[in-house]
Amino acid sequence: MGRLVVVSNRVTIATDKKAQAGGLAVALQDALNQFGGVWFGWSGKVVPKTPTEPTITKVKKVTYATLDLSRKLHAEYYNGFANRALWPLFHYRLDLTAFSQQHYSGYQEVNKLFASQLLPLLKSDDLIWVHDYHLVPLGEELRAAGIDRPMGFFLHTPFPAMEILTALPSHRELVKALCAYDLVGFHTENDLRAFLDYIVHEAGGGIMGNHLIHAFGRTLRVEIFPIGIDTQDFEKLGARPARSDKTLHLRDHPHDRTWLIGVDRLDYSKGLVERFRSFERFLDRHRDYRGKVTLVQIAPQSRSEVPEYKEIQRELATEAGLLNGKYADFDWVPVNYLNRSFNREELVEFYRGSRIGLITPLRDGMNLVAKEYVASQDPEDPGVLVLSRFAGAARELDAALIVNPFDFDDVADAISRGLQMPLEERKERWQAMIEVIRTNTLTVWRDDFIAALQEAPYE
Ligand code: ADP
Ligand code: F6P
Repeated sequence: MGRLVVVSNRVTIATDKKAQAGGLAVALQDALNQFGGVWFGWSGKVVPKTPTEPTITKVKKVTYATLDLSRKLHAEYYNGFANRALWPLFHYRLDLTAFSQQHYSGYQEVNKLFASQLLPLLKSDDLIWVHDYHLVPLGEELRAAGIDRPMGFFLHTPFPAMEILTALPSHRELVKALCAYDLVGFHTENDLRAFLDYIVHEAGGGIMGNHLIHAFGRTLRVEIFPIGIDTQDFEKLGARPARSDKTLHLRDHPHDRTWLIGVDRLDYSKGLVERFRSFERFLDRHRDYRGKVTLVQIAPQSRSEVPEYKEIQRELATEAGLLNGKYADFDWVPVNYLNRSFNREELVEFYRGSRIGLITPLRDGMNLVAKEYVASQDPEDPGVLVLSRFAGAARELDAALIVNPFDFDDVADAISRGLQMPLEERKERWQAMIEVIRTNTLTVWRDDFIAALQEAPYE
């Protein structure tokens, strides 16, 4: 095949030591190294005036092209339309959406700008792969500029039900733009079903079978590609002896305290307020566990310039304070709430040292933390995953204790059940989950998507 061209809002440059290369960045970098290629996107910098050209960094066979954004464009495109309209809407939070024509114009402008600056970097046999809700219109812009190469798009968030999506003033333009790609990928059957529902009932398109649909005058392939993790790496790290002081404590004192863990960006979609309330319900109902179990909630701040995120930060701090105020003792706090990031080695040690992984988003495209928790466990003494039915991961990890995060009693019951679960049952459930996680890895996800895109055009 020709080169791979990846376009995403955030770009991780291989040589940037400061950037914490997450699993996705590493997987994409591997593919770019293999085929050679370009990774294009926002530099992460906000400047007074958007430059007329991207900054180019070459590392081996990969060209990184990153563009700074002016304060105005960043406010409209990223803080505005992407994170105050699309993100809440795609996560079923109509109550938190703030639609604005000005934000939408900024979003369109950035997508046009990305397309025009990417154009000169393209070669005739490139395979173009665009990521996530920030860049839906990019493909249509490239098509308008004459690019007829295969173009794929992967949505990392949920795709909402038609009744929710149609609340967006520009819903039709957005879905039409999605149809400019040859291949559109989603995490779960649910997302795909919602998309097809829109195509048939709102866009007047048709389903042709064999993953193909026809809409807005184009034929495209739509398919599910559930994203995975670098399972081997997590298993390998999990098997090492604990090294950090923090986690040595966790592991060396397993009997005087039991830990539950949550690891999430501080986002309202993650259900953190509801999680704290469910844990409070558990402590209300299980006096015996007071003083013995602690919820460690790691939640680094995210998108802090967006008002709805400022609000959730405030709300959670209050909630943690109230809960600790109600139950803490001189030598025990029920919630250990940490607003910071940790490196992967530390996270694995936290996961492995915790008897329960409490992953209860109100809505989540996939939720990689759930998979990371399972992969980090000791096979001889695995912890229990308590997982929201509204996380994409619940489709694959149905051997977890599946809960409704809106139902505090249900979550409290699952915590209690998890803490009492016999070793044999823990092992059986873990075995079922790890098999899935070992099969659907991040590499498989990436390779499957690229292989499907290589078959385009599909007509
Ligand atoms: P989202 O993409 O919405 O943030 P995911 O659960 O799918 O949610 O992915 C989050 C990723 O970020 C995981 O790989 C997780 O390990 C990482 N992560 C989350 N919180 C932290 C943290 N405090 N420190 C380091 N990594 C984190
Ligand atoms: O998983 C959804 C997502 O928006 C990713 O695209 C992104 O890298 C991650 O969440 C973190 O969000 P942000 O890039 O806005 O900090």
